[in-house]
Amino acid sequence: MNFTFGAVNINVTQEEKQAMLDEVLALGDDVHHYNEFRGCRMIAIWNGGGRLGGRDPKHNTAKGDFSYTPAGDACPTMQRVLEEKIFPWMSPPGRVTILRTAPNTGLNTHLDSTKEEIGTLQHKYRLVLNGAIDKLFFIDNKLNKVYMPGNYDSYILDGSHAHSIDPDPQEKITLCVGAPWKGQSSEAYETLKAKADYIAVVSRPETLDEWLDPAFVKK
Ligand SMILES: [Fe+2]
Repeated sequence: MNFTFGAVNINVTQEEKQAMLDEVLALGDDVHHYNEFRGCRMIAIWNGGGRLGGRDPKHNTAKGDFSYTPAGDACPTMQRVLEEKIFPWMSPPGRVTILRTAPNTGLNTHLDSTKEEIGTLQHKYRLVLNGAIDKLFFIDNKLNKVYMPGNYDSYILDGSHAHSIDPDPQEKITLCVGAPWKGQSSEAYETLKAKADYIAVVSRPETLDEWLDPAFVKK
């Protein structure tokens, strides 16, 4: 199935979402890092090496032995939800990061992949824990912003399609799961996609260089 955005209900309860949000809000500043290119704070939760912090040329956190970071260790409800409701339909389970976009701040439009990966399988899973949902948009082939509906807080997106969020008075806090999981087919994932509540297909724009993450550009 080829889509830009697919809302999938994985049966995370309101209580679980609230508990995960409380866990994130209780974390100290020291476990956050700032992503200059996207324009938001991040917290590494589960990755290769169990490492906090941003991209490090010496350590590729999409590879190696996966474990919880010190921040992930402080979030027991999040660990349970990941293991019971998210990892089982991923093959392999992806890296987990929390994104925090400050109030009244938009993200910079970006791709979560290289230019060469556009159109290949680059699925990312998102669960919105706080903030507006309908500020997420994709850029279409006329460079218009195509906004996603506000009623789905659990969704998969094509990370190789230019996207961003507009500013909102509320802080946006999102649980994000990505590489090494890229949407690889498995029986569980195919079943999940087949019962998607909403699918959006947005035409693909010509890529602008400013959307490309300098961290992905090979030197
Ligand atoms: Fe993104």
